[in-house]
Amino acid sequence: MKLTVTEKLLTEMFARFAPIGALPGGGVTRLAYTEQEDAMHECFRDAARALGFRVWTDCVGNSYAAAFPEGTQGYTLLGSHLDSVIEGGEYDGVAGVLAGLAVLCELRARKNPLPVAVAAFRCEESSNFRVCTVGSGLVTGTLEDDVLRAASDRQGVPLLAHLRAHGYEKDAALLRGCARYLELHIEQGRVLQERGCEIGVVSAIAAPHRYVLRLNGMAEHSGATPMPLRRDSLCAAAEVILAVERAGQEEAANDSVATVGAVENRPNVMNAVPGTTTLQIDLRGIREDSLRRLEQAVTRRVEEICARRGIDYALKAADIKHPVQLDEALQRALCAAAETAGLSHMVMPSGAGHDAMSFAELCPTGMVFIPCRDGVSHNIREHTELSQIENGVLVLLHLLSGEA
Ligand code: GLV
Ligand code: MN
Ligand code: MN
Repeated sequence: MKLTVTEKLLTEMFARFAPIGALPGGGVTRLAYTEQEDAMHECFRDAARALGFRVWTDCVGNSYAAAFPEGTQGYTLLGSHLDSVIEGGEYDGVAGVLAGLAVLCELRARKNPLPVAVAAFRCEESSNFRVCTVGSGLVTGTLEDDVLRAASDRQGVPLLAHLRAHGYEKDAALLRGCARYLELHIEQGRVLQERGCEIGVVSAIAAPHRYVLRLNGMAEHSGATPMPLRRDSLCAAAEVILAVERAGQEEAANDSVATVGAVENRPNVMNAVPGTTTLQIDLRGIREDSLRRLEQAVTRRVEEICARRGIDYALKAADIKHPVQLDEALQRALCAAAETAGLSHMVMPSGAGHDAMSFAELCPTGMVFIPCRDGVSHNIREHTELSQIENGVLVLLHLLSGEA
């Protein structure tokens, strides 16, 4: 099978997206429910409409395109997201949405009227609201109401206020008629590149467990407060950060990881002992038992550090997800599709979170990974060749057309 329209479509679409949220030094910032994410969705919908597809938006702002008529049941949904982290790359999420659109175009070029739709989901990244997969979670009913209600952006504006300001409804109508979900994504790791492999077929997705830790000490004069009398929240935070790292290292053999990715410090001036420090903690793993041990270790160490340093603290769960197993029959079919396409492939877990997590309990769900340069992602240096996205499109097309 040869692709006929994908290269041109990808080239044009990446060029159209390029200025949105572009940073002077390269890379993009397109945070969820900001004007940059709005612009990405508008651009996607305009392009899909101009290509002649039926285009619609749901009540939380996810965008869709399909050739089939409204009300069609039993379609395959190809999805991913259009938001990014702060100082992220152009391919995380976008590659999957554009691969979906390319599949629609290739099917039409072959006069193959398979029922396939493309979804561009909102707010997959936790960078703005500390909660991930919001758009897909709302329309699949998998985002818990209390998580949604507690979420607020980096300035403290509630997620619900953003939804209202956009004219969206929090009680989203659930997505109907979707019989299976497939997502193409860049790997965001180095395994495929190191093994010289063109396609990854995802077996399971690691669950993120996110916490916000607020450490309250005492802000005081940095010159006049003797060392033994201090309750320095940043020094406590420094110990916690290393304790989280150690907990992750202890579970590394089980493929779990632990990160403190964000620090806020107050008053954050040179001449005051820090009084309040807030940390965002991201624990991830494929195995529930390993995640539980990670959580227990972090909780115990935070308690010990704070007691020793006279620091009050509040450790709050922001978003707790469970590890997700992807559909085994789809894994086999995706491997067979890669085989038919003549592409080297391997089955592998995903350390990163994806919209596919929202679908796995509802319908057969599969994911295709393509390599990204040096495995770098969530970084302005993120890069994937268009030919690598085309490989993924080929695999999806072979699977859909039953040519595997
Ligand atoms: C999504 O990109 C994640 O943080 O895994
Ligand atoms: Mn991401
Ligand atoms: Mn992503």
